[in-house]
Amino acid sequence: MSENAAIVATGVGKSFPMGRQTVTALRDVSLSLPAGTLTALTGPSGSGKSTLLHLFAGLERVDSGTLGVLGHQVHACTPTELAALRLGKIGFVHQDFSLLADLTLIENVRLPLEATGTARGDATTAAREAMARVGLEGLEQRFPAEVSGGQQQRAAIARAIVGSRTLVLADEPTGSLDSKTGAEIMGVLAQLRDEGVTVVLSTHNPANLTHADHIAVLHDGTLLSFDTAAGDMA
Ligand SMILES: Nc1ncnc2c1ncn2[C@@H]1O[C@H](COP(=O)(O)OP(=O)(O)O)[C@@H](O)[C@H]1O
Ligand SMILES: [Mg+2]
Repeated sequence: MSENAAIVATGVGKSFPMGRQTVTALRDVSLSLPAGTLTALTGPSGSGKSTLLHLFAGLERVDSGTLGVLGHQVHACTPTELAALRLGKIGFVHQDFSLLADLTLIENVRLPLEATGTARGDATTAAREAMARVGLEGLEQRFPAEVSGGQQQRAAIARAIVGSRTLVLADEPTGSLDSKTGAEIMGVLAQLRDEGVTVVLSTHNPANLTHADHIAVLHDGTLLSFDTAAGDMA
């Protein structure tokens, strides 16, 4: 794979069993995402956006083709290697934030580090830094229910970048937010991209495409187009 590509997919296919039949979620998808860029996956519901993000995250495995993520050939990784890559390098952001309600924001953010054996003090320091990067300083001891939806999503993003994570995968990250808050969250993701984080997100909202360096359009599991957005969107 090219040295500065964060993700290289070649001929990727994925199907799911549905009773006695199979649903083809992705067919023959090939693309290369340079490190430090923001890519938006777009396309109608059911077009394969979430499936592609799950493959990038190592949460699902490709049925066909090859997939390189951060220099690892994930189609050939053992489950243990995949889990280590996921925990150490990749953050996933969900539409519904997925914070644990019984933990404070900083406890949520430091969770991935504690899961990989980082000492509590070091994990707390890194979590504080990650929270500051997304504009949450001062809210460390709040519980999720005590902050706004936008702040919950910022915490989910902080959890995705905490430590040495360099790849953030976000599935409809603004889907549960009003348009003003959604725009703020896109601004946070674009700022992380400017700091060198690779961001891949799915979105239905055309307004979110203005921040994208690349736009991948999916339809029925096929990649219809993969464009560099600069200039085209102006
Ligand atoms: N775990 C699964 N089991 C069965 N079918 C699935 C599963 N995940 C996705 N699919 C199917 O794959 C297709 C693509 O789904 P998805 O990736 O969720 O699309 P999108 O995120 O663009 O809405 C859909 O037909 C969906 O029903
Ligand atoms: Mg989806």
